[in-house]
Amino acid sequence: MSSIDFGFTSGDAVLITGAGSGIGRQTAQRAAESGLAVSLWDIDPTGLEDTAERVRTVAPAVHTWVGDVSDDDAVKAGFADASSTLGTIRYLHNNAGPASSADIPFDRALEICVGSVRRMTDAWAAAGPGDGAAMVATTSVAGNLIGTDNAWYSASKAAIMGYVRHLVAYRSAEFRSNGVAPGMTDTPRLAGFAASETGQRVLSRIPLKRMASADDIAWATLFLLSPAASYINGVFLPVDGGWTVTQ
Ligand SMILES: NC(=O)c1ccc[n+]([C@@H]2O[C@H](COP(=O)([O-])OP(=O)(O)OC[C@H]3O[C@@H](n4cnc5c(N)ncnc54)[C@H](O)[C@@H]3O)[C@@H](O)[C@H]2O)c1
Repeated sequence: MSSIDFGFTSGDAVLITGAGSGIGRQTAQRAAESGLAVSLWDIDPTGLEDTAERVRTVAPAVHTWVGDVSDDDAVKAGFADASSTLGTIRYLHNNAGPASSADIPFDRALEICVGSVRRMTDAWAAAGPGDGAAMVATTSVAGNLIGTDNAWYSASKAAIMGYVRHLVAYRSAEFRSNGVAPGMTDTPRLAGFAASETGQRVLSRIPLKRMASADDIAWATLFLLSPAASYINGVFLPVDGGWTVTQ
């Protein structure tokens, strides 16, 4: 699939966190192909530069910011830098988050995962994203629909949707908010999963018999951000090949 016209205004800007890999990188690629300027954020400078290289030839403008989205000062400085480079940032993709296999204390993990979504959204909204603004958070089927063995991952992904519902109830005059919920997605953090014994077992229970690609999630994200979804507000959109329906 090359490009889909979701009705974006060419030159409008989207900020994507976790853009140095996986879902964020692919969303950046598709956003750039859709005519959007991109502000790419990641804690990993190498991955970030790699993404920036890929989109530079297609995006109307590219801004990069190396920083930790759970760090208040980095977020404020990043927004100031992004706004001065790109002007109004109409769209926000709150996507960065640690892998469920990471060993992080529960309280700190919630601060990183949910706290950063709130921090980024507050900073973005304060700058005035303007008419048609929208935010999409990458949550997960984990936590919202199925429990994981890792307590913080389930809790934080479900909490992100709780925050989205707050935004919808109280901030819809400023912007729309939705959650995209990947199932098993083929990104570097799940490298080798499909070929593993556990992976084969899980995949056999997914009606579409494959993992999601990062592109599957990118398109769903861009749709929810776009003018084509202008009356969609507060949805939790599983992109999981039907996996959770069969659980
Ligand atoms: N891959 C899956 O199966 C899957 C399933 C459900 C949900 N998700 C969610 O999708 C999102 C993206 O995951 P992915 O699979 O593309 O992973 P990935 O590891 O390929 O990419 C994540 C990127 O986020 C960056 N990042 C992590 N913490 C950060 C921080 N504090 N500040 C700035 N950047 C940070 C990383 O450096 C990395 O480049 C995550 O929120 C993840 O929980 C993934």
